[in-house]
Amino acid sequence: MDTKICIRELNKFYGAGERKVHALSNISLNIAAGEFITLVGASGCGKSTLLRTLGGLEEYSDGDILCNGKMVNGPGADRAMVFQSYSLYPWLTVSENIRFSRRLKNKRENLTSNDVEIASGRADALIELMGLNHVVNAYPSELSGGMQQRTAIARALMVKPDVLLMDEPFGALDAQTREVMHDLIRYLYQLEKTTVVFVTHDVEEALYLGHRVIVMAPRPGRIDSIIDVPFGMDRDQDLKLTPEFNQIKREILQRIRETSGIKTNLEQLEKLTRQSDSI
Ligand SMILES: Nc1ncnc2c1ncn2[C@@H]1O[C@H](COP(=O)(O)OP(=O)(O)OP(=O)(O)O)[C@@H](O)[C@H]1O
Ligand SMILES: [Mg+2]
Repeated sequence: MDTKICIRELNKFYGAGERKVHALSNISLNIAAGEFITLVGASGCGKSTLLRTLGGLEEYSDGDILCNGKMVNGPGADRAMVFQSYSLYPWLTVSENIRFSRRLKNKRENLTSNDVEIASGRADALIELMGLNHVVNAYPSELSGGMQQRTAIARALMVKPDVLLMDEPFGALDAQTREVMHDLIRYLYQLEKTTVVFVTHDVEEALYLGHRVIVMAPRPGRIDSIIDVPFGMDRDQDLKLTPEFNQIKREILQRIRETSGIKTNLEQLEKLTRQSDSI
């Protein structure tokens, strides 16, 4: 399979002196074209930093990132990002938000009217696919969280990116809406075969969506382990009920717990409770 993203010996530091943080330590990873990668790990292990660096929104201290064989030195139309906060333009309607990135691209590339017509067809298809037909003329403030996130995903897909980078995109949604979004994103993925790098703190979500789950560990931020998910991509929600799924989920959770550095000291807790009882 072709390599879409190649990360080699990547290091990233924030700050200096006593405040220096080794956010990414010697990260090396090849991501194949059409692969769905999920990143999990304890809070502060560098998931967002890695994703933003891939998106060209953060500089890195040393190492290389190549996308389609070219060095990543900044943002590019080949890589689209979706964040947890929906980041839609509040003064534009759903339809205008979705078409916005395309308008910018048109300006850059002097596309012909035929290209624009095709793009417009793509916008209509994405609106249909995302179930947004009835709210195309609504403003973001008039939408539910799920609708806002579907709009943000449609906007990211408008430019037909090679790589879709998502940072906890469903983190703010309730459990039922999240399940609907999982099946929607999987359906989209099957259609478009975009390479996806998806950050989440939800191990079940990571396992349900990914070909490979990358478990990261903090201080310094690094790759702890890589799990090849042994289920074909033709999945449904029942997979989550199987013993195999739950066994791998437990193993990943165990790794995250062990590397988080947060210890539940029961003796200290009991002491605290005794002290507060006697006040
Ligand atoms: N702009 C910044 N300036 C200084 N330090 C930063 C900055 N952004 C992140 N860090 C530090 O880098 C480390 C990795 O942070 P990052 O946000 O990538 O973690 P994360 O895995 O996404 O965490 P979470 O699960 O809580 O979102 C942390 O120690 C964090 O404090
Ligand atoms: Mg984060």
